[in-house]
Amino acid sequence: MKWTVNKIKNLKGGSKWTMLTAYDSITAMWVDDNNIPAILVGDSLAMTALGYENTLPVKMNEMLHHTSAVSRVVKNSMIISDMPFMSYQSSIESGLENAGRFIKESNADAVKIEGGIIRANLIESLVSNGIPVLGHIGLTPQSIKQLGGYKMQGKNKIEYNNILNDAISVEKAGAFAIVLECIPNELARKITNTLSIPTIGIGAGLQCDAQVLVISDLLGLTDKPIPNFAKSYLNLYPLISNAIKQFKEDVKNDLFPQKK
Ligand code: KIV
Repeated sequence: MKWTVNKIKNLKGGSKWTMLTAYDSITAMWVDDNNIPAILVGDSLAMTALGYENTLPVKMNEMLHHTSAVSRVVKNSMIISDMPFMSYQSSIESGLENAGRFIKESNADAVKIEGGIIRANLIESLVSNGIPVLGHIGLTPQSIKQLGGYKMQGKNKIEYNNILNDAISVEKAGAFAIVLECIPNELARKITNTLSIPTIGIGAGLQCDAQVLVISDLLGLTDKPIPNFAKSYLNLYPLISNAIKQFKEDVKNDLFPQKK
């Protein structure tokens, strides 16, 4: 059965749950087949599949293309598309228009937007026009140039209070859940206990209602280091390399294709 906004909201305070990224039909099918409530077509697509250095260059058309690949096969998970850098920052109108494209052209169920108080009007406008929003605060990778890199946020009193107020305003604006990225455990606990919508943590400790991971980190798909708050449950990269080498050798030695 398809996961909806209300079903996700109802997970608040119950047993912990998970969200995973997916960027194409194969990864989406793996996630959907394992009963994961939400799939995020994250703008991490930029680095995991498109070879960019960070999330800033990824374009609307690239996000739409990959969201469509996901939505063609998913039966149950909620599909959330990340709105790419500069697709919603310049005006509420451009944010509405671009979010609408994810729903109309790529069959997404919701969009994710980075930022707190500064995005409250946009979130309100999207939700009142029928577009569900997942918030994202704390370390917001689309602002790394301003933040000075991928650093934990909310460590001092001022940042702590700002992030808490961001969380409250995102909920008030109508978001159905919120991602908390790279903030101290105590702040994540405080936000989780203050809000009535689910919190989804990444680098935010154990106290969140849910946890999200990037699928290529979880599967160990590359030989590149992963963030220290992530975890690889598999190390597929050497297995894949071995299979490729074996194929190459078999062809060289006339062992493939087999005579039969
Ligand atoms: O783009 C992404 O994958 C994300 C998650 C890390 C939350 O934003």
